[in-house]
This record gives sequence, structure tokens and C-alpha cells, in this order.
Amino acid sequence: MNAVELARFIPKAELHIHIEGSLEPELIFELARRNGVALAYPSIEALRAAYAFTDLQSFLDIYYAGASVLLHPQDFHDMAWAYFRRAHADNVVHAEIFFDPQTHTARGVPIASVIEGLAGACRRAREELGISSALILCFLRHLGEDDAFATLDAALPWREHFIGVGLDSSEVGHPPEKFERVFARCRELGLRVVAHAGEEGPPEYMWQAIDLLKVDRIDHGVASVQDPLLMAELAHTRLPLTVCPLSNLKLCVVRDLREHPLKTMLDAGLCVTINSDDPAYFGGYMNANFVQTTEALQLTREDVIALAKNSFEASFIDAAQRQAFVAEVNRVAAAA
Ligand code: HPA
Ligand code: ZN
Repeated sequence: MNAVELARFIPKAELHIHIEGSLEPELIFELARRNGVALAYPSIEALRAAYAFTDLQSFLDIYYAGASVLLHPQDFHDMAWAYFRRAHADNVVHAEIFFDPQTHTARGVPIASVIEGLAGACRRAREELGISSALILCFLRHLGEDDAFATLDAALPWREHFIGVGLDSSEVGHPPEKFERVFARCRELGLRVVAHAGEEGPPEYMWQAIDLLKVDRIDHGVASVQDPLLMAELAHTRLPLTVCPLSNLKLCVVRDLREHPLKTMLDAGLCVTINSDDPAYFGGYMNANFVQTTEALQLTREDVIALAKNSFEASFIDAAQRQAFVAEVNRVAAAA
């Protein structure tokens, strides 16, 4: 089996997926009809045609508009269940899933509807597909720290349903330092902490995520290649980076997938993983990301195996589960 075939086949964990970014245009229109929500686009085709992004903000504007059709627990369940079926087809065996409660509570949707709908889909994925999963609550960084604290408080009655918190939305102008106190509180509560940094923002934002937020992983982190000291630090600590190649291409972080820094980062010894970010908007789920990156960067079988192993090393599963998944990667790689 060559590297591309192995990339499709190998078991993997997905660690950077915004569940609202898995909402396909067909489901947006179905939920809009079901819930009586008016959309700014006359058809599925017109909506899809608007998916021509120039930067992160141009995407976020459409992404938040798409999420406006989500009202009831069933809607959140149906969205996540559609994601799990696609992830299963791509041999994703474990997923750690971001959700943006503020996007929904700002429209009057109870946080209970969001979390209970998503948690129900996670249970079903375990029972019917054998996929293990966990939820990560993301704070919107274009809003203030007070809003993040209020969101954390509102979510705490459902504490057993999420394993950690993250930081997403518009990066430039909203550095991690803005959220230092709320992240400290989350760490005290025993939550895992991650943050988007170094997607459009500078390496300085990645240093802040490490030094001030004390993150367990960085989401994106492609700006690390601009800073040799940061590269050395990340190689030494193996602090994982959840890289999303097709997202970087669609949001013009890179001009061409052949110029993507993932191989440079992998060769430097960083714990790099491949993920889909917002697959309904960026042209593909996990295997599309794995396959297109493998082709564009001429990754080897060894690279593909390292990426799959990194995904389990970087995940928040326990040591026994991790060992079992890595053993399965070794078994599949040896047989294929
Ligand atoms: N970056 C920041 N915020 C986001 C993203 C992203 O790629 N996707 C959804 N929210
Ligand atoms: Zn993201």
C-alpha cells in the first residue's frame, strides 16, 4: 500500500473540528425549513457559491450565519451525528470536538440544548460506530473575558459532558493574554486547555498561549516556522499542534498546499497532527486533508504513520486507550 492509500486506511484521531463547521449546506437548508429560520441565500448552490474566502474573518461571517439554523437539541444531535458518520468513513476512531456555545446562547438558545444535543450524538457514536469522543467548549475571542467567565459558569452544570476549553474566532487583535484569568480558572477546575494560535496571528501569540494560558495543545500553530526558538521549544516539549491543511489553503494562510509547512514541522520533530477544522466549508473531512497533504508534500508511509501516532499522543485519552490505539496503528501499518 502506498502512502496515500495508507493515509486513507490508517486509524486516526481528529482533534481540531468545530462541530458548527461540519454543517453542510444541505443540512443548513433542512434545519432552516424545520425551524422556520430565514436564510440570506436563495438556494444550496447560492450558499455554496459564497464559500470563496479571502481570510479567516470572511469565513467566520458565513460560518456564524450558517449556525443560526441550530435551535433545538435535535438539531445539534443531527449535525454531530452527520459528522460522526463521515469521520467513521475516514477511519477516525476518536474525536475531540469543539463547540461554540456563545454563538448559540447569544440567539437565545439555552446552553442545555447545545450540550445535551451534542452529548447525545457522542453517546450514539460510541454505541453505533465504536467511535470514542469528547467535547471541548470554545470561548469566542472577539468577545471579552467577562463573557467567557459567564459562559463557563453557565456550562458548569454540564461539567461531565466536556473535557476542556478552547479559544477560537478572530485571532489578530485578540491575543491569548486577554483570557489569562479565565484559563487559570479552567485549569483549577481540572479542565484541559487548548487555544487557536499562530493561524493568522504571529508566533508571539503562540508564546502567550504556552506561557500565559499554559495550554495542553495549540490549534493551527503554523506560524511556528517563523520562529526558530519556538520550533526548538516545541520539538523539545512535544506540545502538540493540531494543523488543518485544507483550512489554511481555503483561508489563504498558504497559497498552495505544496508550500504548506507541515512537512518542515514534522521533520523538525514537532508533534504535528492533521485535522479538518471546518470540513463543510473547506472542501473536505479528515481523509481529504490526509490525502491531499500526502500528495502535495510527498509524504512517505513513515510520515503518515507518524501523523497517525501523533494524533493519539496528542489526544486527551488515558494511557491504556492510547497504547491500544497505537498498537492498532502499528498492526494496520505492518499489514498494509
Ligand atoms: N479559526 C478560528 N476560529 C474558528 C475557526 C478557525 O479556523 N473555525 C471556526 N472557528
Ligand atoms: Zn479551528
